[in-house]
Amino acid sequence: MRFAVLVSGTGTNLQALLDAEAAGQLAPAEIAAVASNRPGVLALERARVAGKPAITVEHRGYPSREAFEDALLEALAPHRIDAIVLAGFMRVLTPRFLDRFPLRVVNTHPSILPAFPGHDAAAQAIAHGVKLSGCTVHLVDSGVDTGPIIAQRAVPILSGDDAVALQRRIQAEEHRLLPAVVRALAAGRISCEGRSVVIAPGDSSDDADQLV
Ligand code: GRF
Repeated sequence: MRFAVLVSGTGTNLQALLDAEAAGQLAPAEIAAVASNRPGVLALERARVAGKPAITVEHRGYPSREAFEDALLEALAPHRIDAIVLAGFMRVLTPRFLDRFPLRVVNTHPSILPAFPGHDAAAQAIAHGVKLSGCTVHLVDSGVDTGPIIAQRAVPILSGDDAVALQRRIQAEEHRLLPAVVRALAAGRISCEGRSVVIAPGDSSDDADQLV
């Protein structure tokens, strides 16, 4: 299954996917292209270093969400994409775009959804005083971090934590969880009825298969 990874920034989750692929741990998923709505971001450089097509489609250059998405689809078309990973991609996608990839668009978010959707989830968690946060990988719908949940990992808040320290520990979990989900999706192990996602067991005892 050929994935495009959509990014807007640093790209540490992209790097985790690239590293997993280089280590032979992402198959049958393949990263076919990386696309950013922001020029010059580190994520694009990471893609280039890994020898992946690195595409920029600036959302600011288009009069509407739909026009931006059409340009993105056109740029991705030569790469024959089957599925999409949002890895720090800071745009909401319309149903029209999502319908092109039914049950094939996943996002990673740095909280235990439905708590703390949107921006600055780690800062929201600290401000609220919760004792546990974590990360969520979910199927994408047209809301902000509202789609059916595939997998979550908890991360405790430690005394003295600030948003930066918490975000760093959450991201370490994301970097393990996201490649595992991408691999399971590509292997056809993920199905969804309503909001309920079921992950069929994998056939190996690798960490990456410990989703269920
Ligand atoms: C991640 O924490 C992800 O959960 C959120 O944005 C952040 C992107 O980080 N959606 P990076 O660009 O992958 O380093």
